[in-house]
Amino acid sequence: MKRRVTRYNDRFGPSMSSGMTVLAIFLAAVVILSVYFACNAFPLRGSGDTAAEDLPEVAPPPPETEEMSLIPEELTARVNFSNADIAHGYLILVNKDHEYSFGGEDVVALYHNEDKSPSYGLATSDIACERSILPFLNEFLDAYSEASGDENVVINSGYRSFEAQQQILDDRIASDGEEEAYKYVALPGQSEHHTGLGMDIASWGENYNSAWLTENCWHFGFVQRYRADKVAITGISSEYWHYRYVGKPHAEIMMKENLCLEEYIELIRTYTYEKPYTFAAEDGTQYVIYSVRAVGSEEAETAVPVPKGAAYTVSGDNIDGFIVSAVWETSAAATETEGEETE
Ligand code: DAL
Ligand code: ZN
Repeated sequence: MKRRVTRYNDRFGPSMSSGMTVLAIFLAAVVILSVYFACNAFPLRGSGDTAAEDLPEVAPPPPETEEMSLIPEELTARVNFSNADIAHGYLILVNKDHEYSFGGEDVVALYHNEDKSPSYGLATSDIACERSILPFLNEFLDAYSEASGDENVVINSGYRSFEAQQQILDDRIASDGEEEAYKYVALPGQSEHHTGLGMDIASWGENYNSAWLTENCWHFGFVQRYRADKVAITGISSEYWHYRYVGKPHAEIMMKENLCLEEYIELIRTYTYEKPYTFAAEDGTQYVIYSVRAVGSEEAETAVPVPKGAAYTVSGDNIDGFIVSAVWETSAAATETEGEETE
């Protein structure tokens, strides 16, 4: 028993003869080299019989294919827009980086205005809004008062001139100090109240339901503009009372994707007529949305492509171009194609 143990140690222990050592090293080298070649040869098997040195170092790119536009050229019309209109429309971005260009405002006073719904009040007699959004404002607040039973909802502020904004800022600085004032009040020229599209909505009623306004504003084309989770982007502290009209379907997209206006405009500016943002609204309407950069000077016009026969809206972005949203029915497009072919 003892001898067998000793022999075993002789064969594998440190007292191995030098001939055996050479043989062991040789065998180990053979094993290591076999494994190495087996592993490196493996990827080459998929490439057929080609030897490794014949293969290109980088795989060749796939053959180039022509990218298809969603909306073909034969279904495209071009409509000229003045480059000055970059500064107008429901989607213009007005903030500390993009000042409002005054001139051409079309606002309507709400006090004693027979088109104003009686479902809401006015904090002062000079409250005004952009003329075309009054029906949407009425619908929004009619629906709110019906849902909440709140009979005391009022509009505290709407359109503001440069001077009015300066006065509000000065008053706020006087009462709360500069630091606090700048958190809530934009510098004159940088307030979207200048557009007539921003409305401050509040209530002193016991049925005040600000959550309903926040959750449902998008149905009427409005967004809550300065949300708590977007302060770092907007530069304005949370203002649950400030609603901005952007229109459909933009309000719906911004709500569903949790985007503030800065983020939404940045997103849409990455989409083009050829590769538009497509969106199926909850009401079943299919939209294509895209941006078009203005070409030439402010006095020049830019030809904006739109799908033939589609209903569309165009707004400036107040940066350097236009944003188009078109109702895009592929079945309607197919019908139009057939019609053109028979002409
Ligand atoms: N309160 C908003 C930010 C304004 O002054 O326009
Ligand atoms: Zn406001």
